Amino acid sequence: MSTDERIRDIVILGGGTAGWMAAAYLARALGAGVSITVLEAPAIPRIGVGEATIPNLQTAFFDFLGIPEEEWMRECNASYKMGIRFINWRSAGRSTPSPRACGDGGADDFYHLFGQLPVHEGLPLSHYWLHRRRSGETTEPFDRLCYRETRALDGNRAPRWYDGRRAANYAWHFDAQLVADYLCRFATRRHGVRHIQGVMDHASIDDRGHLESITTTDGTAIAGDLFVDCSGFRRLLINGALGEPFIDMNEYLLCDRAVATALPHDDDQHGVEPYTSSIAMSSGWTWKIPMLTRFGTGYVYASQFASQDEATEEFCSLWGLDPETVPLNHIRFQVGRNRRAWVNNCVAIGLASCFVEPLESTGIYFIYGALYQLVKHFPDRTFNPVLTERFNKEIATMFDDTRDFIQAHFHYSPRMDTPFWKANKDLRLAPQFVEKIAMYKAGLPVNMPSVDADSYYHNFDEEFRNFWTNSNYYCVLAGLGLLPDDVPILAHRDAAVAAAELEFARIRREQDELAGSLPSAVDYLRRLHGAN
Ligand code: FDA
Repeated sequence: MSTDERIRDIVILGGGTAGWMAAAYLARALGAGVSITVLEAPAIPRIGVGEATIPNLQTAFFDFLGIPEEEWMRECNASYKMGIRFINWRSAGRSTPSPRACGDGGADDFYHLFGQLPVHEGLPLSHYWLHRRRSGETTEPFDRLCYRETRALDGNRAPRWYDGRRAANYAWHFDAQLVADYLCRFATRRHGVRHIQGVMDHASIDDRGHLESITTTDGTAIAGDLFVDCSGFRRLLINGALGEPFIDMNEYLLCDRAVATALPHDDDQHGVEPYTSSIAMSSGWTWKIPMLTRFGTGYVYASQFASQDEATEEFCSLWGLDPETVPLNHIRFQVGRNRRAWVNNCVAIGLASCFVEPLESTGIYFIYGALYQLVKHFPDRTFNPVLTERFNKEIATMFDDTRDFIQAHFHYSPRMDTPFWKANKDLRLAPQFVEKIAMYKAGLPVNMPSVDADSYYHNFDEEFRNFWTNSNYYCVLAGLGLLPDDVPILAHRDAAVAAAELEFARIRREQDELAGSLPSAVDYLRRLHGAN
C-alpha cells in the first residue's frame, strides 16, 4: 500500500506582492486539503513602488482566482496601460519629460504596444511596412502605420467604451502596496490562509538538506513540507539558508540603483496618460506610471556612471523638484537570478528569485509565471527531481529571454552621448540573442506565435514559452531605428503587398474611429473609481 505523500503544509516567507500572490494562487489551485501560512514582517517594508504590468495579468492570474477586473482595479487604485512610450531613446541631450525633436524631423518617441500583428501570406504586417519603407513608399514609423491604438494613446483615451466593450489590448498600472493588502484580505478571508506577523530569525534544515521549519525572533516555529521564499531582495531561504548562488547579470545590464517618488498630477488639465513612459536619461531611464491624481516615477541608473547625488539631481531637475524637500526612495538592486529557483523543498518567487530592471514591466509577470509553473510541476513530499529540474529550466529561460530583450533596448539605442550609453554598446550579447538579431536583420520574423492571436492570448503555456514575439521586436528595434535589410520574398508577391495596403487603410480608419469615439481615460477612471 502506498503511503500518502501529499504536501499538507506550505509556508510562505514574505508578505509583499509575491508572497500574497503566491498565497492566493496556491490556495485556489490546491484547495482546502493544504494549509498555507504567510510569515510577514511589517517592520521590514515591501519594495512597494508604483507598478506597471502586462495584459495577461487578468487572464493568467485574476481570472484564475475568480476576481473580476473591475473589483480588483477599484481596490488597488488601478489605471490603464495600453503600452510603453519610449522618449528620447534615439537622440542625444538633457533629459526631458516630453520627446525632443529628432534629426529626422519627427519627435524622439515611439510606442511599444500590446498585441500581435495581422499576418498575410505567412508574413506579419511589420514586414509589409518594411517593404514600403525600403521602397520609399512611406516614411511613417512602424507603430504609427501598424497599430490601430496609437492615436488613442496620443489623445489619452481609455481602452474601453462606457458600455464595457474593449477597444484595445491593455494592461494596468497600480499601487503595489494596495495589491498586496487586497490579496492578503482575499487569501485570508476567502481561503483561510494563516497570516503570522513576525521576523524570521533562522531556518532548520534536515539531513536531506530540506527545510523543516522557520523560527521567528519571538520563538514561534512554523513547520512545513514546502517553503516558498518571497522574502524579496534578502532571499533569506534560497540563498541564506540553502546557500544557492545568485548569478549576477551586470555584464548584460548596467543599471543597479533607482531613486523613486510619487508626484501629484493635475488630471483636469492634462488628462491621464494610458501608458507607461520610459524617458532616457544620461545614465539610465526614468519611468512614469500614471494613476488618478498622481503618478509614480523613478530613475533607474547605473551607479558606475552616476553617484546617488548626481542621479537625484538629474531626476529632480527632470520634474522640477527640490531634492531637499521631496520624499525620495533610494533603492539598490542586483540584476540576475538564482542559479536554480527551486532547491530541495524551497521555491523562490518574486524578487527572491530574480530581478531584471522594470523597463518592460515584467516583475509581476515573473511572479504569476512562476506560480503557474509551480502548480504545473507540483510535487509531493518525495520531491521528484524531474519536476524540480523542469521548473528550473522554465524559470531560467523566462528570465534570460527577458534579460536579453531588455539589453537590446540599450544596445541598439543609437545614443552614444554619455559614458553610460557608450558602455552599453561594448557589452556582450548572449549568443542565442545574437542569432535572433541576425534573423531580424535578414528579414525573418523572430519568435512568430504558431497559433493565431486569440489562441495565443488564451493559452498561457503558449505565451509563456514564446513571450517576446516578432511584434515586440519590431516595436522596440524599429522604434530605435534598427531596421532589417530587406524582405526579399516580397519583391515576388505583388498581390500580397496589395492586400496589405487594405490592411494599412483599415488601421488608419480605425485609428480615427478609436481616437474619436473612446472616452477619455480620466473620465473613465473617475467613473470606475467613483471619483466623480
Ligand atoms: P518585497 O520586498 O516587496 O517583499 C518582501 C517581503 O518579505 C516583505 O513583506 C517583508 O516584510 C518580508 N520579509 C523580509 N525579511 C523578512 C524576515 N526576516 N521575516 C519575515 N518577513 C520578511 N514589477 C512590475 O511588474 N512592474 C514594475 O513597474 C516594477 N517596477 C519596479 C521598480 C523597481 C525599482 C523595483 C526594485 C522593482 C520593480 N518591480 C516592478 C518588481 C516588483 O516590485 C516586485 O516584483 C514585486 O513587488 C514583488 O516584490 P516581492 O514581494 O518579491 O518583495
